Order: sequence, then C-alpha cells, then structure tokens
Amino acid sequence: MAAVRRALFPGSFDPMTMGHLDLIERATRLFDHVVVAILRNQDKRALFTLDERLAMIAESCGDLVTSGRVEVTAFDGLLVHFARRTGATAVVRGLRSTTDFEYERPMTLMNAHLAPTVDTVFLLGAERYAHVSSRLVKEVAQLGGDITGLVPEGVAARLRARLHGDQAG
Ligand code: PNS
Repeated sequence: MAAVRRALFPGSFDPMTMGHLDLIERATRLFDHVVVAILRNQDKRALFTLDERLAMIAESCGDLVTSGRVEVTAFDGLLVHFARRTGATAVVRGLRSTTDFEYERPMTLMNAHLAPTVDTVFLLGAERYAHVSSRLVKEVAQLGGDITGLVPEGVAARLRARLHGDQAG
C-alpha cells in the first residue's frame, strides 16, 4: 500500500479566515492527511485563546475533520520538529502577494536547512480572498464593518461576541 502523504498547514489562525479554509480544502486534494497546526506560544497577543482557535477551525472544517482527512492541533517549538513527530513530509503555505513571498522565503529556506526532507508547498491564495487576512478582518470587525464572507459564520459570530459583546457568538 502507498504511504500516507501527510502535510502540515501551520499558522497563528487568530482567527481562521475563508482564505485559510480554501487552502485547507485544496491541500486535502493534494495530500491524504492535513494537520492544521496552530503555533502555541507566540509573543504577539492573540484575540482568541488557543482552545477557541482550535474549536473554530474544527467547526469550520466540518466533514473534513469528522472524516479524518483533517486534524486540528497545536504545536510548540520548531515547525520541522513537529513535522518529524507527526510524519509530515510537506508544509503547505498560502501566498497572496509578493509581500507574502518575501515573508515566507527566509522561513522556508531555514526550514529546508533544518530539515531538507520536509518540503514547503505554496498554494496561490484564491483571488476572491486576496485582501483577506486575520489582522484586517479583526480591524474591520472592531470598527463595525461587515465581515460576512471573509470568515466562516461561526468565526464571525465569535468575533462579534468578543468585540461587541453580542449574544450570537
Ligand atoms: O500564520 P503565521 O503567523 O504567518 O504562521 C507563522 C508560523 C507559525 C508558520 C511560523 O512562525 C512558524 O513556523 N513558527 C514555528 C517556529 C519555527 O519553526 N521557527 C524557525 C523556522 S521559521
């Protein structure tokens, strides 16, 4: 039997956006198993706790999680060490722009230096989500803008609840 092709999709996911969800779905068409991996100890202050971010991703991925194609988890330390522990041979990252590319390039080269057998695979972000980032979504939501379609429904509800105290989330 052919070996299971396992990929990591790492990030901060504070919160997950539709751009992330699109990339996860596309990654499942390329790999047998996709591990969405939230970096645990970050310097920057997150709006959502790790547990909230785990829950939002699991909810949003729905059937992909229940069918076992996607797993959502957290990691500490080096990404390549986590890749080795989980048996992942690839890291999937999305690119929206050349700015993203410049941000990704040193990380990718460092990861390749540390673990030459773990490759990074870039997927070009869908054009309809090219303007969508966790940071901008939080800013728009904070300032009362409409975030419909930019994040999964459950994430939008939690954002409204966190930022404006709505009961919906
Ligand atoms: O969503 P983000 O914040 O752009 O994701 C960045 C992430 C989590 C992929 C990156 O910070 C990471 O892999 N951190 C783990 C620490 C690590 O491995 N550092 C050395 C190689 S860059």
